[in-house]
Amino acid sequence: ERVCLAYSGGLDTSIILAWLLEKGYDVVAFMSNVGQEEDFDAAREKALKIGCSKVVINDDRDQFVKELIFPAIQCNANYETTYLLGTSLARPIIARSMMSVAAKEKCAYVAHGATGKGNDQVRFELAFYALQPNIKVIAPWRDPEFLARFKGRNDLLDYAAEKNIPVTSTKAKPWSMDANLAHCSYEAGILENPDITPPDDMWTLTESAILSAANEPEDVVIEFEKGIPVKLTSPTTGTETDPTKLFLAANALARKHGIGRVDIVENRFIGIKSRGCYESPGLTILQHTHRDLEGLTVDREVRALRDQFVTFGWSKILYNGLYFSPEREFLQVSIPESQKTVNGQVRARLYKGNTIILGRSSQTEKLYDASESSMDEIGDFEPSDAGGFIKVQAIRLKKYGQAKAEKGEA
Ligand code: ARG
Ligand code: SIN
Repeated sequence: ERVCLAYSGGLDTSIILAWLLEKGYDVVAFMSNVGQEEDFDAAREKALKIGCSKVVINDDRDQFVKELIFPAIQCNANYETTYLLGTSLARPIIARSMMSVAAKEKCAYVAHGATGKGNDQVRFELAFYALQPNIKVIAPWRDPEFLARFKGRNDLLDYAAEKNIPVTSTKAKPWSMDANLAHCSYEAGILENPDITPPDDMWTLTESAILSAANEPEDVVIEFEKGIPVKLTSPTTGTETDPTKLFLAANALARKHGIGRVDIVENRFIGIKSRGCYESPGLTILQHTHRDLEGLTVDREVRALRDQFVTFGWSKILYNGLYFSPEREFLQVSIPESQKTVNGQVRARLYKGNTIILGRSSQTEKLYDASESSMDEIGDFEPSDAGGFIKVQAIRLKKYGQAKAEKGEA
């Protein structure tokens, strides 16, 4: 039987690869390049040396930026206010790429190294089944036989020695990481105590805002068309218009200025709380400036409905691994509709962890009228009109206040 394994090059998936071979499977190792720092050639060699019959590495970076990251910026996607969904956004891209390889390589099975307590198992498997309903999934970290054999890290290391699997870092980092071009996450290990402050050298994508960010601020201009960043200009990056290059330029700026770190305790889909430290450098700058431009360019009620239903719904769908679903498709069509007017540019100053808005403008949007909101001018709109508006709004509240007073409540 042929199985397509989501291979990372790390210890766990190398062990899984050897174990699948031992069980008699013919293994195709699959890697998706979603922009993680990785020596793909070394990983390929390693997988072949362990004994897989083929390694397929797909470059999925441009699709990741255009299909997932940009819509996430357009709808200000976030989970529980703080997590910009870096891991969740990459999963649909990886799963789809993997299923195309599984089909091409005629694999009846797919395998992954996600644990039995996390979100990733749900995300990968729901995507696999939606894309290829007949696929059979092997999840070793839920397999009693595998779990009985590998009870702890020492068992993994012993097996690695037995199977001649090179273990690159002898002293592994005391946390688990997941990286792509938008983000890096750190979870588990010493981070499981939510009151342990992570060591500064844990972070890999950004300078520390306090210890090592640039001492000089830097100004950036970001232009949006229909809510999508189309042009980024700064003194150190020059001008970028290609989607992926623009995103990488935002990453470089955020890295230098220590922007985009968060440390949270979140609620996983399966119902347990988990502590995570996340870095989403470029995404943080782009979302912050995008949200600012929406203030100038989006209708109040469109914005309110979008915040309540689309931002919340799309983010939850992505977090819970339901990208390939009718509800995601249904919400997705409303994103461009909400962004028709989000055209213009935002100027921001990057400095020690902050994206400080300097100003925004739009050539096309006329929703904002300086003279209408001016405190110095009287136009179409008379101050006495506002008096009437308040009186009508107060009808209900006066009744409410009166009832409270009668009951003797404050
Ligand atoms: N808790 C985050 C999420 O669910 C990050 C998960 C990181 N995944 C990983 N395999 N290390 O999206
Ligand atoms: C894992 O469980 O494999 C990583 C964490 C998660 O998916 O939530």
